[in-house]
Amino acid sequence: MKKLYIETMGCAMNNRDSEHLIAELQNKEGYTLTQDAKEADLILINTCSVREKPERKLFSEIGQFNAIKKPQAKIGVCGCTASHLGEEIIKKAPSVSFVLGARNISKITQVIHQDKAVEVDTSFDDSTYAFSKNSNPDIKALLNISIGCDKKCTYCIVPHTRGKEISIPTTMLLDEAQKLAQKGVKELLLLGQNVNHYGIRFSNPHKPTNFTQLLRELSSIEGIERIRFTSPHPLHMDDEFLEEFARNPKICKSIHIPLQSGSTKVLREMKRGYTKEWYLNRIEKLKSLVPHVGISTDIIVAFPTETEADFQETMEVLNIVQFDTLYSFIYSPRPHTEAQKLHNPISKEEASKRLATLQSRHKEILAQKSKEEIGKIHSVLIENYRDEAPQVWSEGRSDTNRLIKIPNHVLPLGSIVPVRVAHNDGGSLIGEMLPQ
Ligand code: SAH
Ligand code: SF4
Ligand code: F3S
Repeated sequence: MKKLYIETMGCAMNNRDSEHLIAELQNKEGYTLTQDAKEADLILINTCSVREKPERKLFSEIGQFNAIKKPQAKIGVCGCTASHLGEEIIKKAPSVSFVLGARNISKITQVIHQDKAVEVDTSFDDSTYAFSKNSNPDIKALLNISIGCDKKCTYCIVPHTRGKEISIPTTMLLDEAQKLAQKGVKELLLLGQNVNHYGIRFSNPHKPTNFTQLLRELSSIEGIERIRFTSPHPLHMDDEFLEEFARNPKICKSIHIPLQSGSTKVLREMKRGYTKEWYLNRIEKLKSLVPHVGISTDIIVAFPTETEADFQETMEVLNIVQFDTLYSFIYSPRPHTEAQKLHNPISKEEASKRLATLQSRHKEILAQKSKEEIGKIHSVLIENYRDEAPQVWSEGRSDTNRLIKIPNHVLPLGSIVPVRVAHNDGGSLIGEMLPQ
Protein backbone atom coordinates (compact mmCIF):
# COMPACT_ATOMS: atom_id res chain seq x y z
CA MET A 1 0.00 0.00 0.00
CA LYS A 2 1.43 3.40 -1.02
CA LYS A 3 0.98 6.12 1.57
CA LEU A 4 0.04 9.76 1.09
CA TYR A 5 0.75 12.59 3.53
CA ILE A 6 -0.87 15.92 2.74
CA GLU A 7 -0.57 19.30 4.36
CA THR A 8 -3.12 21.98 3.55
CA MET A 9 -2.73 25.73 4.05
CA GLY A 10 -5.10 28.53 3.12
CA CYS A 11 -8.82 28.74 2.62
CA ALA A 12 -11.79 26.36 2.40
CA MET A 13 -11.26 26.11 -1.33
CA ASN A 14 -7.79 24.70 -0.73
CA ASN A 15 -9.30 22.21 1.73
CA ARG A 16 -11.70 21.13 -0.99
CA ASP A 17 -8.81 20.84 -3.48
CA SER A 18 -7.01 18.62 -0.97
CA GLU A 19 -10.10 16.41 -0.71
CA HIS A 20 -10.06 16.10 -4.51
CA LEU A 21 -6.35 15.25 -4.54
CA ILE A 22 -6.85 12.59 -1.86
CA ALA A 23 -9.86 11.01 -3.59
CA GLU A 24 -8.07 10.88 -6.96
CA LEU A 25 -4.98 9.25 -5.42
CA GLN A 26 -7.00 6.79 -3.34
CA ASN A 27 -9.31 5.70 -6.14
CA LYS A 28 -7.00 5.72 -9.13
CA GLU A 29 -3.54 5.11 -7.65
CA GLY A 30 -4.24 3.00 -4.55
CA TYR A 31 -2.87 5.41 -1.95
CA THR A 32 -3.99 5.43 1.68
CA LEU A 33 -3.68 8.47 3.90
CA THR A 34 -1.12 8.70 6.68
CA GLN A 35 -0.65 11.33 9.39
CA ASP A 36 3.06 10.55 9.55
CA ALA A 37 5.21 12.15 6.85
CA LYS A 38 8.11 9.81 7.70
CA GLU A 39 6.27 6.76 6.36
CA ALA A 40 4.75 8.47 3.29
CA ASP A 41 5.61 7.58 -0.32
CA LEU A 42 4.14 10.87 -1.50
CA ILE A 43 4.15 14.15 0.42
CA LEU A 44 1.89 16.91 -0.91
CA ILE A 45 2.02 20.50 0.31
CA ASN A 46 -1.11 22.37 -0.76
CA THR A 47 -0.03 25.99 -0.49
CA CYS A 48 -1.56 29.43 -0.01
CA SER A 49 -0.07 32.72 -1.20
CA VAL A 50 -2.70 35.22 -0.13
CA ARG A 51 -0.27 36.82 2.32
CA GLU A 52 3.51 36.73 2.43
CA LYS A 53 3.84 34.71 5.64
CA PRO A 54 2.35 31.36 4.56
CA GLU A 55 4.33 31.60 1.35
CA ARG A 56 7.63 32.13 3.17
CA LYS A 57 6.90 29.04 5.26
CA LEU A 58 6.89 26.85 2.15
CA PHE A 59 10.64 26.51 1.61
CA SER A 60 11.40 25.73 5.24
CA GLU A 61 8.68 23.08 5.15
CA ILE A 62 10.11 21.47 2.03
CA GLY A 63 13.47 21.29 3.83
CA GLN A 64 11.91 19.68 6.89
CA PHE A 65 10.03 17.07 4.86
CA ASN A 66 13.12 16.33 2.79
CA ALA A 67 15.11 15.65 5.96
CA ILE A 68 12.68 13.07 7.35
CA LYS A 69 11.12 11.43 4.29
CA LYS A 70 11.84 7.91 3.03
CA PRO A 71 14.62 7.98 0.39
CA GLN A 72 12.28 7.17 -2.53
CA ALA A 73 9.38 9.33 -1.37
CA LYS A 74 8.30 12.19 -3.64
CA ILE A 75 7.44 15.73 -2.58
CA GLY A 76 4.85 17.63 -4.65
CA VAL A 77 3.96 21.29 -4.22
CA CYS A 78 0.34 22.11 -5.13
CA GLY A 79 -2.00 25.09 -4.78
CA CYS A 80 -1.76 28.84 -5.12
CA THR A 81 1.98 29.30 -4.47
CA ALA A 82 2.62 26.52 -6.98
CA SER A 83 0.56 28.52 -9.52
CA HIS A 84 2.56 31.69 -9.30
CA LEU A 85 6.09 30.46 -8.53
CA GLY A 86 5.94 27.45 -10.87
CA GLU A 87 9.36 26.22 -11.96
CA GLU A 88 11.13 28.51 -9.51
CA ILE A 89 10.10 26.10 -6.74
CA ILE A 90 12.05 23.21 -8.27
CA LYS A 91 15.02 25.49 -8.99
CA LYS A 92 15.13 26.64 -5.38
CA ALA A 93 14.24 23.26 -3.85
CA PRO A 94 15.47 20.41 -6.11
CA SER A 95 13.99 17.83 -3.73
CA VAL A 96 10.54 18.77 -5.13
CA SER A 97 9.38 16.24 -7.77
CA PHE A 98 6.50 18.23 -9.27
CA VAL A 99 4.60 21.51 -9.08
CA LEU A 100 0.84 21.48 -9.58
CA GLY A 101 -1.04 24.80 -9.66
CA ALA A 102 -4.39 25.44 -8.00
CA ARG A 103 -6.07 25.44 -11.41
CA ASN A 104 -4.56 22.09 -12.43
CA ILE A 105 -5.24 19.69 -9.59
CA SER A 106 -7.19 17.29 -11.81
CA LYS A 107 -3.78 16.41 -13.34
CA ILE A 108 -2.48 14.90 -10.10
CA THR A 109 -2.55 11.30 -11.37
CA GLN A 110 -0.38 12.36 -14.34
CA VAL A 111 2.25 14.46 -12.59
CA ILE A 112 3.08 11.85 -9.95
CA HIS A 113 4.45 9.66 -12.77
CA GLN A 114 6.50 12.41 -14.41
CA ASP A 115 9.86 13.74 -13.34
CA LYS A 116 9.92 17.45 -12.47
CA ALA A 117 6.53 18.20 -14.03
CA VAL A 118 5.32 21.80 -13.73
CA GLU A 119 1.60 22.20 -14.47
CA VAL A 120 0.50 25.72 -13.65
CA ASP A 121 -1.62 26.90 -16.58
CA THR A 122 -4.29 29.18 -15.10
CA SER A 123 -6.40 29.05 -18.26
CA PHE A 124 -6.81 25.29 -17.84
CA ASP A 125 -10.49 24.47 -17.37
CA ASP A 126 -11.38 21.58 -15.08
CA SER A 127 -14.81 22.97 -14.18
CA THR A 128 -16.51 19.88 -15.62
CA TYR A 129 -13.92 17.32 -14.53
CA ALA A 130 -15.56 14.43 -12.68
CA PHE A 131 -13.30 14.12 -9.64
CA SER A 132 -13.29 10.79 -7.78
CA LYS A 133 -15.69 10.80 -4.87
CA ASN A 134 -14.67 10.89 -1.26
CA SER A 135 -15.70 7.41 -0.11
CA ASN A 136 -16.66 8.35 3.41
CA PRO A 137 -18.12 11.82 3.57
CA ASP A 138 -18.84 13.43 6.93
CA ILE A 139 -22.10 15.02 8.06
CA LYS A 140 -20.91 18.23 6.44
CA ALA A 141 -19.52 18.39 2.91
CA LEU A 142 -17.73 21.01 0.84
CA LEU A 143 -18.98 21.64 -2.70
CA ASN A 144 -17.17 23.90 -5.20
CA ILE A 145 -19.66 25.81 -7.31
CA SER A 146 -17.13 27.81 -9.30
CA ILE A 147 -13.42 28.02 -9.96
CA GLY A 148 -11.27 31.16 -10.32
CA CYS A 149 -12.19 34.80 -9.72
CA ASP A 150 -13.11 37.56 -12.18
CA LYS A 151 -12.58 40.45 -9.76
CA LYS A 152 -9.45 42.54 -9.73
CA CYS A 153 -9.18 43.61 -6.09
CA THR A 154 -5.91 45.51 -6.18
CA TYR A 155 -4.38 43.77 -3.13
CA CYS A 156 -5.26 40.21 -4.08
CA ILE A 157 -3.17 37.54 -5.78
CA VAL A 158 -6.01 34.99 -6.14
CA PRO A 159 -7.11 35.90 -9.71
CA HIS A 160 -3.48 35.35 -10.76
CA THR A 161 -3.24 31.95 -9.05
CA ARG A 162 -6.71 30.60 -9.88
CA GLY A 163 -7.50 32.22 -13.24
CA LYS A 164 -10.80 33.52 -14.57
CA GLU A 165 -14.08 32.53 -13.05
CA ILE A 166 -16.02 29.55 -14.45
CA SER A 167 -19.16 28.14 -12.83
CA ILE A 168 -19.69 24.41 -12.45
CA PRO A 169 -22.84 23.21 -14.29
CA THR A 170 -25.96 23.06 -12.10
CA THR A 171 -26.73 19.45 -13.10
CA MET A 172 -23.29 18.32 -11.84
CA LEU A 173 -23.84 20.12 -8.54
CA LEU A 174 -27.35 18.71 -8.05
CA ASP A 175 -26.11 15.24 -8.89
CA GLU A 176 -23.24 15.46 -6.42
CA ALA A 177 -25.45 16.94 -3.69
CA GLN A 178 -27.96 14.12 -4.17
CA LYS A 179 -25.24 11.49 -3.84
CA LEU A 180 -23.89 13.19 -0.73
CA ALA A 181 -27.37 13.29 0.81
CA GLN A 182 -27.75 9.55 0.15
CA LYS A 183 -24.50 8.96 2.04
CA GLY A 184 -25.82 10.83 5.07
CA VAL A 185 -24.51 14.35 4.47
CA LYS A 186 -26.79 16.92 6.14
CA GLU A 187 -24.99 20.19 5.52
CA LEU A 188 -23.40 21.60 2.37
CA LEU A 189 -20.85 24.39 2.34
CA LEU A 190 -20.87 25.88 -1.16
CA LEU A 191 -17.51 27.29 -2.17
CA GLY A 192 -16.28 29.90 -4.59
CA GLN A 193 -14.26 33.12 -4.43
CA ASN A 194 -17.41 34.94 -5.36
CA VAL A 195 -20.33 32.55 -4.92
CA ASN A 196 -23.10 35.01 -5.71
CA HIS A 197 -21.60 35.62 -9.14
CA TYR A 198 -22.65 32.03 -9.97
CA GLY A 199 -23.87 31.51 -13.53
CA ILE A 200 -21.81 34.30 -15.08
CA ARG A 201 -19.83 31.93 -17.33
CA PHE A 202 -19.85 28.18 -18.03
CA SER A 203 -17.54 26.06 -20.18
CA ASN A 204 -20.44 24.75 -22.24
CA PRO A 205 -23.86 26.16 -23.16
CA HIS A 206 -25.99 26.30 -20.00
CA LYS A 207 -29.46 27.53 -19.10
CA PRO A 208 -29.44 31.09 -17.71
CA THR A 209 -29.23 30.91 -13.92
CA ASN A 210 -27.86 32.70 -10.88
CA PHE A 211 -26.86 31.98 -7.29
CA THR A 212 -30.34 32.48 -5.87
CA GLN A 213 -31.72 29.96 -8.35
CA LEU A 214 -28.96 27.49 -7.46
CA LEU A 215 -29.80 27.85 -3.76
CA ARG A 216 -33.44 27.08 -4.52
CA GLU A 217 -32.53 24.00 -6.53
CA LEU A 218 -30.05 22.61 -4.02
CA SER A 219 -32.41 23.14 -1.11
CA SER A 220 -35.05 21.00 -2.79
CA ILE A 221 -32.85 17.91 -2.30
CA GLU A 222 -34.27 15.62 0.32
CA GLY A 223 -31.82 14.86 3.14
CA ILE A 224 -29.85 18.10 2.78
CA GLU A 225 -30.99 19.99 5.86
CA ARG A 226 -28.60 22.92 5.84
CA ILE A 227 -26.81 25.02 3.27
CA ARG A 228 -23.97 27.45 3.92
CA PHE A 229 -21.77 29.25 1.41
CA THR A 230 -18.60 31.31 1.27
CA SER A 231 -17.75 33.94 0.09
CA PRO A 232 -20.49 36.09 -1.31
CA HIS A 233 -19.43 39.51 -2.62
CA PRO A 234 -21.24 42.52 -1.12
CA LEU A 235 -21.61 44.06 -4.60
CA HIS A 236 -23.79 41.19 -5.86
CA MET A 237 -26.09 40.97 -2.83
CA ASP A 238 -29.29 41.95 -4.56
CA ASP A 239 -32.71 42.04 -2.89
CA GLU A 240 -33.80 38.78 -4.53
CA PHE A 241 -30.84 36.98 -2.93
CA LEU A 242 -31.41 38.54 0.51
CA GLU A 243 -35.09 37.61 0.38
CA GLU A 244 -34.31 34.01 -0.55
CA PHE A 245 -31.72 33.88 2.22
CA ALA A 246 -34.35 35.01 4.72
CA ARG A 247 -37.20 32.86 3.40
CA ASN A 248 -35.49 29.52 2.74
CA PRO A 249 -35.42 27.45 5.95
CA LYS A 250 -32.53 25.28 4.73
CA ILE A 251 -30.20 28.25 4.31
CA CYS A 252 -28.32 28.74 7.57
CA LYS A 253 -28.74 32.15 9.05
CA SER A 254 -25.08 32.98 9.14
CA ILE A 255 -23.24 34.74 6.37
CA HIS A 256 -19.72 35.93 5.57
CA ILE A 257 -19.79 39.43 4.08
CA PRO A 258 -16.21 40.58 3.46
CA LEU A 259 -15.93 44.29 4.20
CA GLN A 260 -12.14 44.79 3.69
CA SER A 261 -12.40 48.50 4.57
CA GLY A 262 -15.03 50.87 5.95
CA SER A 263 -13.74 53.80 3.91
CA THR A 264 -15.32 54.38 0.51
CA LYS A 265 -12.08 55.99 -0.65
CA VAL A 266 -10.02 52.91 0.29
CA LEU A 267 -12.66 50.57 -1.16
CA ARG A 268 -12.33 52.45 -4.44
CA GLU A 269 -8.54 52.08 -4.33
CA MET A 270 -8.99 48.38 -3.56
CA LYS A 271 -11.37 48.18 -6.60
CA ARG A 272 -14.00 46.45 -4.47
CA GLY A 273 -16.88 47.94 -6.49
CA TYR A 274 -19.04 49.08 -3.53
CA THR A 275 -19.18 51.97 -1.10
CA LYS A 276 -19.43 52.04 2.69
CA GLU A 277 -23.05 53.16 2.25
CA TRP A 278 -23.90 50.22 -0.03
CA TYR A 279 -22.32 47.78 2.42
CA LEU A 280 -24.27 49.23 5.35
CA ASN A 281 -27.45 49.31 3.28
CA ARG A 282 -27.12 45.57 2.54
CA ILE A 283 -26.50 44.82 6.23
CA GLU A 284 -29.49 46.88 7.26
CA LYS A 285 -31.75 45.11 4.77
CA LEU A 286 -30.41 41.71 5.86
CA LYS A 287 -30.90 42.46 9.56
CA SER A 288 -34.40 43.73 8.92
CA LEU A 289 -35.25 40.44 7.19
CA VAL A 290 -33.34 38.16 9.60
CA PRO A 291 -32.83 39.91 12.95
CA HIS A 292 -30.90 36.99 14.49
CA VAL A 293 -28.48 36.57 11.54
CA GLY A 294 -24.82 35.84 12.38
CA ILE A 295 -22.42 37.93 10.28
CA SER A 296 -18.70 37.32 9.79
CA THR A 297 -16.28 39.45 7.82
CA ASP A 298 -12.74 39.99 6.55
CA ILE A 299 -10.97 43.29 7.15
CA ILE A 300 -7.58 44.44 5.89
CA VAL A 301 -5.90 47.21 7.87
CA ALA A 302 -3.08 49.47 6.71
CA PHE A 303 -3.74 49.29 2.98
CA PRO A 304 -1.03 51.69 1.66
CA THR A 305 -3.43 54.63 1.17
CA GLU A 306 -5.35 54.11 4.42
CA THR A 307 -5.18 57.22 6.62
CA GLU A 308 -6.05 57.32 10.31
CA ALA A 309 -9.42 58.83 9.29
CA ASP A 310 -10.05 55.92 6.87
CA PHE A 311 -9.22 53.45 9.60
CA GLN A 312 -11.69 55.19 11.92
CA GLU A 313 -14.36 54.61 9.27
CA THR A 314 -13.59 50.89 9.44
CA MET A 315 -13.97 51.10 13.23
CA GLU A 316 -17.29 52.85 12.72
CA VAL A 317 -18.59 50.04 10.49
CA LEU A 318 -17.39 47.49 13.05
CA ASN A 319 -19.38 49.31 15.73
CA ILE A 320 -22.50 49.57 13.59
CA VAL A 321 -22.55 45.99 12.27
CA GLN A 322 -21.27 44.24 15.43
CA PHE A 323 -19.82 41.29 13.51
CA ASP A 324 -20.09 37.87 15.14
CA THR A 325 -16.74 36.76 13.70
CA LEU A 326 -13.89 38.89 12.44
CA TYR A 327 -10.94 37.73 10.33
CA SER A 328 -8.51 40.63 10.24
CA PHE A 329 -5.19 41.05 8.51
CA ILE A 330 -2.44 43.58 8.03
CA TYR A 331 -2.10 44.41 4.34
CA SER A 332 0.62 42.29 2.78
CA PRO A 333 2.02 43.39 -0.60
CA ARG A 334 1.71 40.58 -3.13
CA PRO A 335 3.34 40.03 -6.52
CA HIS A 336 1.13 40.30 -9.63
CA THR A 337 -1.19 42.80 -7.91
CA GLU A 338 -1.84 46.45 -8.68
CA ALA A 339 -1.43 47.61 -5.08
CA GLN A 340 2.11 46.26 -4.95
CA LYS A 341 3.22 49.31 -6.94
CA LEU A 342 1.83 51.74 -4.37
CA HIS A 343 4.19 53.60 -2.09
CA ASN A 344 3.46 52.34 1.44
CA PRO A 345 4.05 55.03 4.06
CA ILE A 346 2.49 53.05 6.93
CA SER A 347 5.05 51.71 9.38
CA LYS A 348 4.86 48.15 10.72
CA GLU A 349 4.24 49.58 14.20
CA GLU A 350 1.33 51.70 12.98
CA ALA A 351 -0.16 48.75 11.07
CA SER A 352 0.10 46.50 14.15
CA LYS A 353 -1.46 49.23 16.29
CA ARG A 354 -4.45 49.49 13.95
CA LEU A 355 -4.88 45.71 13.92
CA ALA A 356 -4.73 45.57 17.72
CA THR A 357 -7.25 48.44 18.05
CA LEU A 358 -9.65 46.66 15.69
CA GLN A 359 -9.28 43.29 17.37
CA SER A 360 -9.60 44.56 20.93
CA ARG A 361 -12.80 46.48 20.09
CA HIS A 362 -14.13 43.33 18.45
CA LYS A 363 -13.34 41.32 21.59
CA GLU A 364 -15.52 43.73 23.58
CA ILE A 365 -18.32 43.32 21.05
CA LEU A 366 -18.02 39.53 21.32
CA ALA A 367 -18.15 39.57 25.11
CA GLN A 368 -21.37 41.58 24.95
CA LYS A 369 -22.81 39.29 22.25
CA SER A 370 -22.02 36.17 24.25
CA LYS A 371 -23.95 37.62 27.21
CA GLU A 372 -26.89 38.29 24.91
CA GLU A 373 -26.83 34.63 23.79
CA ILE A 374 -27.89 33.41 27.24
CA GLY A 375 -31.46 32.13 27.08
CA LYS A 376 -31.60 32.02 23.26
CA ILE A 377 -32.94 28.88 21.59
CA HIS A 378 -31.07 27.38 18.64
CA SER A 379 -31.37 24.28 16.52
CA VAL A 380 -27.99 22.56 16.69
CA LEU A 381 -26.58 20.06 14.19
CA ILE A 382 -24.66 17.48 16.25
CA GLU A 383 -21.17 17.02 14.82
CA ASN A 384 -19.25 15.47 17.66
CA TYR A 385 -19.64 13.74 20.99
CA ARG A 386 -17.59 12.31 23.83
CA ASP A 387 -18.90 9.34 25.72
CA GLU A 388 -16.20 8.64 28.29
CA ALA A 389 -17.57 8.98 31.82
CA PRO A 390 -17.25 11.34 33.61
CA GLN A 391 -16.91 13.26 30.33
CA VAL A 392 -20.16 12.93 28.45
CA TRP A 393 -21.25 15.63 26.02
CA SER A 394 -22.34 16.41 22.48
CA GLU A 395 -21.52 19.48 20.44
CA GLY A 396 -22.52 21.13 17.23
CA ARG A 397 -23.26 24.41 15.53
CA SER A 398 -26.35 26.56 15.58
CA ASP A 399 -27.54 27.71 12.19
CA THR A 400 -26.05 31.09 13.15
CA ASN A 401 -22.72 29.21 13.30
CA ARG A 402 -22.15 29.32 17.09
CA LEU A 403 -20.44 26.29 18.60
CA ILE A 404 -22.64 24.94 21.41
CA LYS A 405 -21.72 22.17 23.85
CA ILE A 406 -24.47 20.07 25.43
CA PRO A 407 -23.23 18.34 28.59
CA ASN A 408 -24.65 15.00 29.80
CA HIS A 409 -26.11 14.02 26.44
CA VAL A 410 -24.75 11.65 23.81
CA LEU A 411 -26.75 12.49 20.71
CA PRO A 412 -26.60 10.81 17.30
CA LEU A 413 -24.22 12.51 14.86
CA GLY A 414 -26.19 14.37 12.22
CA SER A 415 -29.26 14.93 14.39
CA ILE A 416 -30.64 18.44 14.69
CA VAL A 417 -31.86 19.25 18.20
CA PRO A 418 -33.41 22.27 19.95
CA VAL A 419 -31.09 23.75 22.59
CA ARG A 420 -31.34 26.67 25.00
CA VAL A 421 -28.09 28.50 25.79
CA ALA A 422 -27.58 28.21 29.55
CA HIS A 423 -24.23 29.91 30.01
CA ASN A 424 -20.90 30.78 28.50
CA ASP A 425 -17.89 28.94 29.93
CA GLY A 426 -15.46 31.50 28.56
CA GLY A 427 -14.75 29.63 25.35
CA SER A 428 -17.87 27.94 24.11
CA LEU A 429 -21.57 28.31 24.76
CA ILE A 430 -23.09 25.68 27.01
CA GLY A 431 -26.63 24.61 26.16
CA GLU A 432 -29.38 22.47 27.57
CA MET A 433 -31.60 20.19 25.52
CA LEU A 434 -35.21 21.18 25.10
CA PRO A 435 -37.96 18.62 24.63
CA GLN A 436 -38.34 17.85 20.90
N1 SAH B 1 -12.87 35.92 -2.39
C1 SAH B 1 -12.90 36.27 -1.05
C2 SAH B 1 -11.60 36.28 -0.32
C3 SAH B 1 -10.44 35.48 -0.67
S1 SAH B 1 -8.92 35.84 0.11
C4 SAH B 1 -13.48 37.66 -0.93
O1 SAH B 1 -13.54 38.42 -1.85
O2 SAH B 1 -13.82 37.99 0.18
C5 SAH B 1 -9.37 35.87 1.84
C6 SAH B 1 -9.10 37.16 2.53
O3 SAH B 1 -7.71 37.41 2.61
C7 SAH B 1 -9.64 38.40 1.84
O4 SAH B 1 -11.00 38.59 2.11
C8 SAH B 1 -8.79 39.50 2.41
O5 SAH B 1 -9.35 40.03 3.58
C9 SAH B 1 -7.50 38.79 2.75
N2 SAH B 1 -6.42 39.21 1.83
C10 SAH B 1 -6.36 39.01 0.50
N3 SAH B 1 -5.23 39.58 -0.01
C11 SAH B 1 -4.58 40.14 1.04
C12 SAH B 1 -3.36 40.89 1.15
N4 SAH B 1 -2.62 41.16 0.10
N5 SAH B 1 -3.00 41.29 2.39
C13 SAH B 1 -3.75 41.01 3.47
N6 SAH B 1 -4.90 40.33 3.41
C14 SAH B 1 -5.32 39.89 2.20
FE1 SF4 C 1 -9.40 38.25 -4.22
FE2 SF4 C 1 -11.23 40.08 -4.62
FE3 SF4 C 1 -11.36 37.76 -5.95
FE4 SF4 C 1 -11.87 37.82 -3.34
S1 SF4 C 1 -13.07 38.85 -4.95
S2 SF4 C 1 -10.56 36.36 -4.42
S3 SF4 C 1 -10.47 39.40 -2.60
S4 SF4 C 1 -9.78 39.34 -6.19
FE1 F3S D 1 -7.18 30.25 -0.88
FE2 F3S D 1 -4.79 31.08 -0.24
FE3 F3S D 1 -5.30 30.44 -2.71
S1 F3S D 1 -6.67 31.86 0.54
S2 F3S D 1 -7.45 30.88 -2.98
S3 F3S D 1 -5.32 29.06 -0.95
S4 F3S D 1 -4.06 32.11 -2.05
